[in-house]
Amino acid sequence: MLKLTYHGHSCFELEAEGHRVIVDPFINGNMHAKIKPSDVKVEAVLVSHGHGDHVGDAVEIAKSNDCEVVTNFEIANWMQGQGAKAHGMHIGGAHTFPWGRVKLTPALHGSSLPDGTYGGNPAGLLIWMGGKCVYFAGDTGIHSDMALYGRLNPIDLALLPIGDNFTMGIDDAVEAAVLCQTREAMPIHYGTFPVIESDPREFLRRLTARGVKGRVVGFGETVTV
Ligand code: NI
Ligand code: MN
Repeated sequence: MLKLTYHGHSCFELEAEGHRVIVDPFINGNMHAKIKPSDVKVEAVLVSHGHGDHVGDAVEIAKSNDCEVVTNFEIANWMQGQGAKAHGMHIGGAHTFPWGRVKLTPALHGSSLPDGTYGGNPAGLLIWMGGKCVYFAGDTGIHSDMALYGRLNPIDLALLPIGDNFTMGIDDAVEAAVLCQTREAMPIHYGTFPVIESDPREFLRRLTARGVKGRVVGFGETVTV
């Protein structure tokens, strides 16, 4: 069984079989997060790309948990420079950890780190835990590779950005859910800043019209995948 807790924006925790990880731990500065970085107890911190609203509190959480940041090679090097442990990967590569398996997928976006350091290519993440596959698209525009990754890796739940402006909006996120053939889709990366206001219920309605199951997870809510 896989449990997902959503902290708003692109930050979520996954828990299965006694293992727990956090993804894109943007907590300080995230108006929807109901926790503090010091509350987070995890075995790994996964980071999709270098932007501040995704790297977030990764360094602090990795240090306080004495665990690795799992991310692309460039961001892994930067994390080590900040004194955090890191495991570098890159797009197309997968690795099995004690807590689960991750594959980095393409994302169409930028990835500079908060201090301006080059952060490599942005990624999406396929994460296998508890016998389920979660596809976190990351910050991205729609791209047809989503169909290929979905075909090669049957997806139980796709986390898709709907906030527009920096990423897909609702139209393209609905199309992305169809493309990746996910069993279920969940909206993320909306409502955190005025420029990414978007209606998750509208996303749900549009998904349903296309025959895809959708689920809006509330801020701080835990659901079973
Ligand atoms: Ni970004
Ligand atoms: Mn972002």
